[in-house]
This record gives sequence, C-alpha cells and structure tokens, in this order.
Amino acid sequence: MAASGQVQQLDLKGRDMIELDDYSTEEIQYLLDSAIELKRKQKSGEVYQPLKGKTIGLIFEKSSTRTRVSFEAGMFQLGGHALFLSKNDIQLGRGEPISDTAQVMSRYLDGIMIRTFGHDNVVNLAKYASIPVINGLSDMAHPCQVLADLQTVLEHKGKLKGLKMAFIGDGNNMAHSLLIGGAKMGMHVAVASPEGYQPDAGIVQLSREVAAECGGQITVTQDPIEAAKDADVVYTDVWASMGFEEEQAQREAAFANYQVNEDLVKAAKPDYLFLHCLPAHRGEEVSEGVIDGPNSVIFDQAENRLHAQKALMVALMG
Ligand code: CP
Ligand code: NVA
Repeated sequence: MAASGQVQQLDLKGRDMIELDDYSTEEIQYLLDSAIELKRKQKSGEVYQPLKGKTIGLIFEKSSTRTRVSFEAGMFQLGGHALFLSKNDIQLGRGEPISDTAQVMSRYLDGIMIRTFGHDNVVNLAKYASIPVINGLSDMAHPCQVLADLQTVLEHKGKLKGLKMAFIGDGNNMAHSLLIGGAKMGMHVAVASPEGYQPDAGIVQLSREVAAECGGQITVTQDPIEAAKDADVVYTDVWASMGFEEEQAQREAAFANYQVNEDLVKAAKPDYLFLHCLPAHRGEEVSEGVIDGPNSVIFDQAENRLHAQKALMVALMG
C-alpha cells in the first residue's frame, strides 16, 4: 500500500482467477491491499460503484452460503448486477457443452464465477469464455477463500511473510489453495493429514517450487503436532467435503486424531489465530472451545470474503 493510503494500481483487467499460482506475489498483495481499502470505504459509508452497468453470472453446482451471498452483495455494492445460476436450472445441467455455455454467456455478461466439482470445468469455461472466469470452488482449489484468509491474517498480524500457517485435516481444495497462496506470500505452510488423505502430490511439488522462489517453506506431514508447533495460524476444514458425504463414517475414523482442540493448539504460539473457511462441524474437525474461543477470527474471515471478492471483481472486470 502506498503511504497516502491509495493502493498502487496494477492492471489485472480481463484475467481469470482459476488458482493463485497464476498470480505473482505482487499481484496478490495488490488484491489484498485493494480489499482492505474497499473494506475501509464500505465501513466509512463511502459509495464506490466502478462496476455500474456490469453483470456477473454465478454458476453453482454445489451449495453455498458465503460465496453466493458475498458475490451477490459485493456486486450490488459496486454498482453492478449478479445473476444466480443454479446448474440445474440452466442448460448446462442438461448436457449443453461448457464451451457453448462459455461463449454464449460471454455475449451477455462481464464475468462468470463458477462453483463446480471438476476443476476441468473451471479451466474449460475460462478457455472458451472471452470474459474473466473466477473459481468459486472446485474439488482442487478455492482461491477466493484464500484471498479472504490472507487478508484476515494480514489485518490481525500486520504481515504474512515469515508466518507459519498450519492446516490440520483433509488434503483437499482448501489445503491446496493455502499451500499455493501461503507459499506465494512467503509463509511457512505446514499441512498435517492422515495417510490416504494427503494433498495432491503435484500441488505440493508446485507449492515447494513457489516457496523456493518467494521465500516460503512447505511441510507435509502426518503429525498434527509437528504442523501446529509454533504456528501463527491454525486452520482446519471439514473432514468430508461436498461430494464426499458418503465417506463420512470412514473419514471420521481416519481423522480421529486430527481434531483441532485445546490440546493441539498448546503447540501453537500463544497468540495464534484460528481460521476455518466454514461451514464447520463443532466436535468433529474442531472443538467448540477452539472455534468459539478467543483466538478464533472465523467471522472476520467470513466477512473478508465480501471485501476480497469485491477487490477481485474490480481488478478483473473494472
Ligand atoms: N467457505 C465457503 O466457501 O463457504 P460457502 O460454501 O458457504 O460458500
Ligand atoms: N472443503 C470444503 C470447503 C467448503 C467451503 C468443500 O469443498 O466442501
């Protein structure tokens, strides 16, 4: 951020947001600074509508509270319009090709957000669309969430570089985007997952390369205490993500020793922050005492979805 409080402009117009590895450290920092500035504007009642006359389509193949509401409210606040498009209600759900959907929507809209199962759907939508495509969660990645997470840590800790962020749980979409996003910002990201539930090997390799370039560090372990040791941030997510509900019982057994609870957080720094992308299951991946305790910033984190995505929409669609 410039000394004046003005955010130095970077040109990201027309870009997609599929995963954070497509963005440089400087570009991510720019999005975070913009998010903080947009938050300040909103809190001070300043009307800021750079997206007047613009429309974003929000395609959802899975449930959502935060992503849907924050994109819709955010776009309204920026002067634009958001269309909620449940996959089942559009022809995509009846087999219309994603390439045709992308090209048709590009004739009407200024941007598309998609929440889907297969990451390929996001990639293909972006390939055929001539407007920015934003990944609102796929089975592989959740970059919008991680922008909000990084903003939250930055606000509470005043920096990102050099901090240790422990992710305890399933090596899922959240683990992947935290590995990449944290590495980009020079953090030490430590992921602890049981055997069979470790993050994707290709993403771990990529995050190690990014960390080497950006001054970060990556640890992947099966030991939750090793990951949580001296952590500045302790993060967890559900054990059974959307689409994996039928594995709930099997996963409860596999993850039994991976609950983030009062015992585990003793290993972290005393002023650690607890983060969870939500929705959460108290008594499963996290104890009530931790998620509702004094170190938890989950509602700041959820709020920041709004500000981070507003920054993203302005940067890509403005
Ligand atoms: N964290 C998150 O993406 O929440 P929703 O599933 O409610 O959008
Ligand atoms: N890993 C979770 C995140 C939900 C926001 C899921 O994919 O269901």
